[in-house]
Amino acid sequence: MYLQRFRLDGRTALVTGGASGIGLACADALSEAGARIVIADLNADAIDRAVAGLVARGRAAEGRVMDVTDRTRVDAVAEEVGPIDLLVNNAGIALSEIAAEDMDDARWLKVLDVNLNGAFWCARAFGRGMLARRHGAIVNVGSMSGLIVNRPQGQAHYNASKAAVHQMTRSLAAEWADRGVRVNAVAPTYVSTPLNAFADREAPMYKRWIDSTPMGRLGEPEEVASVVLFLASDASSLVTGAIVLADGGYTCW
Ligand code: NAI
Repeated sequence: MYLQRFRLDGRTALVTGGASGIGLACADALSEAGARIVIADLNADAIDRAVAGLVARGRAAEGRVMDVTDRTRVDAVAEEVGPIDLLVNNAGIALSEIAAEDMDDARWLKVLDVNLNGAFWCARAFGRGMLARRHGAIVNVGSMSGLIVNRPQGQAHYNASKAAVHQMTRSLAAEWADRGVRVNAVAPTYVSTPLNAFADREAPMYKRWIDSTPMGRLGEPEEVASVVLFLASDASSLVTGAIVLADGGYTCW
């Protein structure tokens, strides 16, 4: 009975930024549980590779080129794809390692646009269909950076964007809870993906990250995806508005 509640047979899940890193692992996890996957990402070749990888493992998957900051395109994809049951708002960028006083307007605006605005455009576009059918779950990929301030690198734009994603999660959860739509977020620690490629593993910054983490290591994309699977499935049927940390203990210190 309990394991059955993690199954997603017959459901469709759209994963933004699903062609790489955490998003790709989420597509893998949700499809292993039986969901049909739509990968929505920027780059057609990367989408094709991700979809081919899933299909080769016997999963149902397709792709859409979609920039989450382009709300006209987001609305068009929602129309084109039709009703979905699950949305993973994962697309995000960091453009990290910048002191606040040196932040240029474009960098601030870009990170807020992708991480916050993009997540909202998608929640709005796909949430409407879920509300109409009184059924759906949205999982936003937030970050521990929405709760703490990372050290030593400056990333005020990223931290602010993820704190806003968390509060948007709680706001949508409260608005939609009695209409059958749950909205939650996962808040990971540093995870081994291309997003963190800017950090040289021999550098003092990387050592600081590890020394600041009780588990003494980065996370793996699959360790975030399994939390997303829980939040997307009926196993979490009473959970909404939650920000679930997957941080290796980082926020304990
Ligand atoms: P990644 O760089 O491996 O993958 C991000 C994906 O999003 C890429 O496929 C990229 O093409 C896509 N993307 C970027 N901008 C987009 C846009 N405007 N529209 C559609 N797709 C877009 O990054 P990673 O690490 O897998 O990050 C995924 C999410 O996890 C992000 O929201 C990130 O902020 C969050 N996160 C990552 C952590 C990490 O340490 N890697 C830690 C905590 C949160």
